[in-house]
Amino acid sequence: TSHQPLDADSITLISFFLEHQKKIPNATGELTQLLTSIQTAAKTISSAVRRAGIIKLFGTSGTTNVQGEEVKKLDVLANELFINLLKSSYTVSIMVSEENETVIEVDKERQGKYMVAFDPLDGSSNIDCLVSIGSIFAIFKKPDNSVPTVKDALMSGRNVVAAGYVLYGSATMMVISTGDGVHGFMLDPTIGEFILTEHNLKIPKRGNIYSINEGYTHQWDEAIKEYVQNKKDPSKGKTYNARYVGSMVADIHRTIKYGGIFLYPATTASPKGKLRLLYECVPMAYIVSNAGGSASNGKIPILDIQPTNIHERTPIFLGSIEDVEEIVDIIKKQC
Ligand code: AHG
Ligand code: MN
Ligand code: MN
Ligand code: MN
Repeated sequence: TSHQPLDADSITLISFFLEHQKKIPNATGELTQLLTSIQTAAKTISSAVRRAGIIKLFGTSGTTNVQGEEVKKLDVLANELFINLLKSSYTVSIMVSEENETVIEVDKERQGKYMVAFDPLDGSSNIDCLVSIGSIFAIFKKPDNSVPTVKDALMSGRNVVAAGYVLYGSATMMVISTGDGVHGFMLDPTIGEFILTEHNLKIPKRGNIYSINEGYTHQWDEAIKEYVQNKKDPSKGKTYNARYVGSMVADIHRTIKYGGIFLYPATTASPKGKLRLLYECVPMAYIVSNAGGSASNGKIPILDIQPTNIHERTPIFLGSIEDVEEIVDIIKKQC
């Protein structure tokens, strides 16, 4: 059998960011240190996800979280991994996790200058049926570079210095941006390294896929109904394909790769939408914007929203710039 030659000069995630760090005047290396700990969390979660059925990590933990959701066993493991690895990176002082009601403070002797908001396991409802799931994180820094405290937790997306997601899909991939392009690293399980496979990912200007949970159609505003109807009406132009995984990371990675739009609008049941601003919408908006796309709450860019609560939710319309423009125009017309 012909084995792929082991590429002797493949670029690993850390060597890529070390090179990036060298270009930044008086860089301390702390961000690279932080990314190294996130990388370890991703590798460990990837291994746990792929063996969950064997090591009895399917099913629920028996607890309910601040979101009112049933917490899965893998949610708990992923959350503890992120918290412990971020603490031991000596680069973080406060964290916000989907799974923790209040801000997590790092002990004084291990504090660093970053705040990290993360969704340790995204798409938990898809764990037991082996459909793709993910992890999402955003790294924030205060403008004055001082150590953030609990009262600094409510930073807007304009304070993000890096954000990424890990997709535990048919392969495990980390997609990450520090503001200078968006880059994809595939986990090679035979050597346990994330290898650069997609340099400078760019989202097409327009796609032909719309991604939304149509089960809520009866709960949408008229503008959303009109937009989705248009995508299925040949008299309005070329119809789109419908794709919805129900894991934000999977739906958004496909949107970046193929183009199109991901929508989670307000519903009568969730008037501010379901997705959480700090650790789902902001990181994804930062990444997609750096890939040449856009992300709006229907009125303003997601990155401009000033949070008032660490678990606040927001409607989100994200993806190819022309597709997002189209629905925002319909929403504005209806107001
Ligand atoms: P999480 O599993 O971290 O709570 O996130 C689930 C989210 C997101 O992954 C996905 O886009 C959305 O829930 C799907 O919601 P619906 O099932 O309401 O469509
Ligand atoms: Mn959840
Ligand atoms: Mn999530
Ligand atoms: Mn989650």
